[in-house]
Amino acid sequence: MKSPKDKVAFVTGGASGIGLALGRVLLSAGMKVVLADIRKDPLFGLADEFEGLPVHLIPLDVSDRRAMEQAAAETESVFGKVHLLCNNAGVNLFGPLDESIYSDWDWVLDVNLNGVINGIVTFLPRMKAHGEGGHILNTASIAAFLGSTKAGIYAASKAAVCSLSESLWYDLSPHRIGVSILCPGLVKSQIYQSNDARPGRCLPSGYTESDDLTASLKEVHSHGMDPTEVAQKALQGILRNDLYIFTHPEHRDEFVERFNRLGAAFPNEPVDPNRLAFEEGRRQRQQDLWRRGQERLGTE
Ligand code: NAI
Repeated sequence: MKSPKDKVAFVTGGASGIGLALGRVLLSAGMKVVLADIRKDPLFGLADEFEGLPVHLIPLDVSDRRAMEQAAAETESVFGKVHLLCNNAGVNLFGPLDESIYSDWDWVLDVNLNGVINGIVTFLPRMKAHGEGGHILNTASIAAFLGSTKAGIYAASKAAVCSLSESLWYDLSPHRIGVSILCPGLVKSQIYQSNDARPGRCLPSGYTESDDLTASLKEVHSHGMDPTEVAQKALQGILRNDLYIFTHPEHRDEFVERFNRLGAAFPNEPVDPNRLAFEEGRRQRQQDLWRRGQERLGTE
C-alpha cells in the first residue's frame, strides 16, 4: 500500500495501546478508520476525541466469526472498501505452562490466533474482490521468536501468527495485497489488564490471579515504548511493504544469538542428491515468488 490517503483501515483491539495508536496514526495519514474492540466502555469513551473525524467505533469480539462478518459489512456500509486490515487485538496470560488448563489455552488462542484467522477469512475475500490492492498488518510479538518463561501460551500464539503471515505474503502478493508482521518488544500499554476482557466461557484458569503480579506487570510496562512510536514504525513498514516490522532494537543481538544457535544445530553431513535437488528447486521457486511479489507490491 503506497498511499494511505482516503483509504479505509479496520483495526482490532482499537480501544487501547497499540491499536488506538494505530488508529490515530492512520487517521493522521489521511485514512478512514474503524476501531473495533471487545471492551465497550473504553471504546465508546473515544467518541469525543474522534467527533467529526472519519473514525467509526464497533464493539467486537475477534473470536466471534459472525460478529467479525457483521463488522466487515458495517465498515463497508460506513466507509466503503477496506484496504488495510490490522489484526491487532491480543491478550497476555502469565503463568508456567505446566499449570495451564484447557480454558487458558482456549482464551489466548481464541483471541491471539483465531482472532487473526477470523479477520483474514472474513476480510480477504472482500479485499481481493475490490481489486485495488491493500495490506494486512498482523500484530505478533518479539515473544514469537524468543520463547517466554511464564508466558508460553502467548509465545506459541504469536509464533503461529508469524508463520501464517509469512505464508500469506506469498499467497497475496499476486493480488497486490501486502502482509506485515508487527513484532514489538515491551510497550507501554494496558496489556497487563488482559484479564478484564476474559470471557466467562474461558474460566476458570489454571493460574491464580494475584494483585502483586498485575502490579509488577504494570510497572514493567510503564517502561515500554510509547504505542505511538510503535504505530508510526508500523505505518512506515506498511508503506515500505516490509514483511517483518521490528520496532525494538534492543532485541537484535538476542536474535542473532538465537539464529546462530539454530544454524549450529544442523548436522554437518552429506545430503542425498535427489533430496537436495528437490529442496534447492523449492528454494529457487520460493525466491522467484519473493522477487515477483516484491515487484508487484512495489508497483501498487
Ligand atoms: P492493550 O491491552 O492496551 O490493547 C489490546 C486491546 O485488545 C484491548 O483494548 C482489549 O480490550 C482488546 N481485546 C482483548 N480481547 C479482545 C477480543 N477478544 N476482541 C477484540 N478486542 C480484544 O495491549 P497492547 O499492548 O496494545 O496489545 C496490542 C497487541 O500488541 C496485542 O496483540 C499484543 O499481544 C501485542 N504486543 C504487545 C506488547 C506489549 O508489550 N504491550 C509487546 C508485543 C506485542
